[in-house]
Amino acid sequence: MILDNVQSIESFKEIDDFLQENNFSKIGILVDENTLKDCFPLILPFLPSHSILEIKSGEEEKNFYTCIKIWKWMTHEQFDRKALLINLGGGVIGDMGGFCAATFKRGVRFINIPTTLLSQVDASVGGKLGIDFEGFKNHIGLFQEPVKVFINPVFLNTLPENELRSGFAEVLKHGLILDKNYWEAVKSVDYKNAEWKKIIEHSVKIKNKVVKEDPTEKGIRKILNFGHTLGHAIETFYLNTSKRLLHGEAIAIGMICEAYLSFKKLNLKESDLNDITNHLIGIYSKNDIAESDYQKIISFCLQDKKNSDHKTMFVLLEEPGKAIFDIPINEDDMIEALDFYKTTKG
Ligand SMILES: NC(=O)c1ccc[n+]([C@@H]2O[C@H](COP(=O)([O-])OP(=O)(O)OC[C@H]3O[C@@H](n4cnc5c(N)ncnc54)[C@H](O)[C@@H]3O)[C@@H](O)[C@H]2O)c1
Ligand SMILES: [Zn+2]
Repeated sequence: MILDNVQSIESFKEIDDFLQENNFSKIGILVDENTLKDCFPLILPFLPSHSILEIKSGEEEKNFYTCIKIWKWMTHEQFDRKALLINLGGGVIGDMGGFCAATFKRGVRFINIPTTLLSQVDASVGGKLGIDFEGFKNHIGLFQEPVKVFINPVFLNTLPENELRSGFAEVLKHGLILDKNYWEAVKSVDYKNAEWKKIIEHSVKIKNKVVKEDPTEKGIRKILNFGHTLGHAIETFYLNTSKRLLHGEAIAIGMICEAYLSFKKLNLKESDLNDITNHLIGIYSKNDIAESDYQKIISFCLQDKKNSDHKTMFVLLEEPGKAIFDIPINEDDMIEALDFYKTTKG
């Protein structure tokens, strides 16, 4: 047990027990083609009768049109308020399945069985649900906690390496914002060959602690957005082009840019900036971001949900393990940060 609704499990018997203890009128499972193939067979022996909906995988599918498919399926399958939706997949399935469940008949219960590292350490904890809209990430959504989150690292055995690497960015972020010792420890972890159980449990603990203090992101929860202000803008920018960047890959760039801003604005030590930069580039390599794209990226920052009064508020680091939120940053500084990323050798 980690905390409240999040449970670290080694066997799927726990899911069986949970389903038997609760008298759900109907059980539906949302999967994509990969989680249907690689993850569903692992839990099938522990499931009672259920219906299943497969959607296409990918961030491009996290939209209103897929929601319509999900709501239609729930309608035709006669989901009522006592039904349960099981989201079996990564952050896309969890965010969108949760959103559909939370809005269907004013709220049907759902549980998450996250199958990517990113969703195990981050997306399935904290109740943020939503879909992309009009080119903006997570533009429509709400806060609603799943009844349960069952985390089992066994799913990571089939996860492609680039997806594992993407999720690892959130683990590194957890250390950088709140736990210096954890940052030091995860720096020496080889993500291709890691002991995930302990890492996941520690990351979930950090995220849960922050979310519990501030469930709707009025204050301290904002620190989870370190690397995400410019990172999200970069991710969104590329979402609208033919180049694809995974969430964690974009966040890694964001963390380097925002570490630079931390050095400039909060006196983060230059040696720490170099350490963070070298480490992240060592794992994620460098992406070439054209200067001609800077303005577009910055315009996405201004649209960020975390802003108020037309200022772009950043989370910056005073030192590794200590983040400060609501630091206003202007466009020139953002350009300088993107330039730092562009020119650093890492
Ligand atoms: N709600 C939150 O707090 C929160 C936090 C962070 C990210 N997110 C969201 O999460 C999404 C990204 O999540 P993600 O990285 O999990 O991506 P994802 O859901 O797209 O999954 C990544 C890929 O891995 C495949 N896959 C999943 N599990 C697998 C397994 N065990 N074996 C083989 N293949 C598998 C999927 O089919 C997909 O192709 C983004 O939409 C992001 O906005 C949400
Ligand atoms: Zn993230």
